[in-house]
Amino acid sequence: MAQNLFVSEHPLVGHKITQLRDVHTDCRRFRSIVQELAMLLAYEATRDMPTRTVPVQTPLTTTQGPVVDAQVGLVPILRAGLGMVDGMLHLLPKAEVWHLGFYRDEQTLQPVIYYNKLPEDLSSHRCFILDPMLATGGSAIAATEILKARRVSQIKFVGLLAAPEGIAALHARHPDVVVHVAAVDERLTTEEDAQQGLPPGFIWPGLGDAGDRQFGTG
Ligand code: PRP
Repeated sequence: MAQNLFVSEHPLVGHKITQLRDVHTDCRRFRSIVQELAMLLAYEATRDMPTRTVPVQTPLTTTQGPVVDAQVGLVPILRAGLGMVDGMLHLLPKAEVWHLGFYRDEQTLQPVIYYNKLPEDLSSHRCFILDPMLATGGSAIAATEILKARRVSQIKFVGLLAAPEGIAALHARHPDVVVHVAAVDERLTTEEDAQQGLPPGFIWPGLGDAGDRQFGTG
């Protein structure tokens, strides 16, 4: 596996991704699987979380135990990243949530920002960018640059499906960003696919548009 790329090998993750790919999976089920997958990926992506040891009183005695010692920011990319927030918060209930809004220009596939209320200084935080899809990588790169300008101490991207092109683009610009995904697909759709009626710049075979499938649009 390439450096700083972690693709889950857990059978439950694979099973749930197959359900997401299925065109017959309805909106409600799709949303709940996205949430479940976010929780499973959170477990893997938090493996290096720092801890400190605190005293704890058990019913029998006093002992010592680790507690997570980190300030965490979750950065869902609107819209599709929203569905991953609750799953991550299940495991990281004290995390702060900062939203970033991007849409992809349909012609250029470049991300266009429409919402950003991030605090100016995030130097004491480690952040997880949440977006089900890493396609061309444009949105992940733009989000990373916004977070780096705020001096975030560690950035991880947590997603469901990635295209090899998107991972390569993100790591060419930001090799330090650790990517955790449930699966890496074959490729992005091309102009040739577009002539067959498929949208260009989509993950292939993929699961369609994660935003539309969660929110019943499109
Ligand atoms: C999708 C997806 C990512 C982005 C990935 O969002 O959720 O945010 O495209 O593509 P990229 O890697 O090429 O930047 P979309 O623009 O469809 O917006 P939506 O979430 O509002 O549906």
